[in-house]
Amino acid sequence: MMDAGERFGIIINDRAVKTPVAIASMAGIVDAAYVLERQAHAGLAFIGGYAIDAPTMAAAKEIAAGGDRKEFLYDDPVPVLEKELASLASCNVVAGISLRGASPESFATIARKFGTKSVYEIDAHCRQAPMVAAGAGEYYLKNPEKLVAAIKALKKEGVTVSVKIRAGVAADDRALARAIWAAGADIIHVDLMDSGAAKLRQIRNSCPLIIVANNSINSFEKMRDMLSHGADIVSLARQSDMKTLAMLDSEIKNYADTDGWYNSPKQLCRGGDIRALTFCCMPVKECPLIPTLAKVGMTNEEYAKLKLNAVQGTPLAGGPHTCFGSLAWCCKTSSPCMFRDMTLTQEGLPKKEYMRLKRELSETIMSRIFHDVPSDQCS
Ligand SMILES: Cc1cc2nc3c(=O)[nH]c(=O)nc-3n(C[C@H](O)[C@H](O)[C@H](O)COP(=O)(O)O)c2cc1C
Ligand code: SF4
Ligand code: SF4
Repeated sequence: MMDAGERFGIIINDRAVKTPVAIASMAGIVDAAYVLERQAHAGLAFIGGYAIDAPTMAAAKEIAAGGDRKEFLYDDPVPVLEKELASLASCNVVAGISLRGASPESFATIARKFGTKSVYEIDAHCRQAPMVAAGAGEYYLKNPEKLVAAIKALKKEGVTVSVKIRAGVAADDRALARAIWAAGADIIHVDLMDSGAAKLRQIRNSCPLIIVANNSINSFEKMRDMLSHGADIVSLARQSDMKTLAMLDSEIKNYADTDGWYNSPKQLCRGGDIRALTFCCMPVKECPLIPTLAKVGMTNEEYAKLKLNAVQGTPLAGGPHTCFGSLAWCCKTSSPCMFRDMTLTQEGLPKKEYMRLKRELSETIMSRIFHDVPSDQCS
């Protein structure tokens, strides 16, 4: 049986994520006990959100006093987080804490205390008025230079950083994703609201970070839609019940074991993100390939050379009877093609292994595209 590392290849905080299904935070609800009850079917969980300084703790009290929303309330976050993280220490769900803080130092203080025991998620998502007025949550989406400062403060402590955003709030989500990447974050956790796959693809095409896609994931179809447009993981909040988590966990394991690439993109001409360049032909015809290469700043010649060099010495180098003389240019297995399939049979290469090699090729292409970290956009 395949282990999680082989099956999904997702490493967060130096740990293999056993399934690309995450639990998203819900203030006053998602704590260690909530995660432990669901640990069999989640690979990653963000507990919280927890207010971590005086302005956000006051905001949490005000929100809870309003009566409509629950909050975790206390006067000192440290013993609370200590207890929660200790409960999660031996479970095989990668732990994250969702934090609401109003200054870089507030985040750094928590990271200094707990080090690499957790992923640190900056809550740039909460839109409750008292939290935004305190300078936390959605405030960061309107003031990206403050978000960048918070990310940098956490990264200085040597910890893994996730940023939870809500799509469609910042002036430009693409620029925001690049700024989050340039500041050193590791994960973008995006609540896509109603914007769906198109917005997700924009973010995927803007940065190489791990993407956790969120909002209304309650079926395998929706999960695959997210994964095929750039997500590495999907997260659930309101529907993070055992039945749904177990269903998604089991379906994605079956899919990965059959297909070979659990989050394979759609072909570029079918709306796929730039990872789909791995399935693209030579740049010889009028199709979305050539404008895409121009957008990512790669010449046609560089693209051709990159792919051919990357497959040298691998089974993808072969395929003289395919359209362009090598499997490097061949399509996804879901597109029927007898020439490719004949080649795979002749080479003794199972389709699943072909897709695994296409994933490796896509990783090489992505590292070339995102080779240069953008210079600070909001320092
Ligand atoms: C009651 C409740 C509390 C929430 N609290 C937080 C929070 O503290 N931090 C955060 O980043 N998101 C919070 N969220 C947002 C969820 O994590 C998630 O982004 C949103 O509910 C959409 O995902 P879903 O459709 O899977 O629920 C909360 C959502 C709900 C319903
Ligand atoms: S190169 Fe081929 S796969 Fe890529 S967009 Fe063009 S037609 Fe589609
Ligand atoms: S041989 Fe088939 S799979 Fe390969 S590029 Fe041509 S149509 Fe696509």
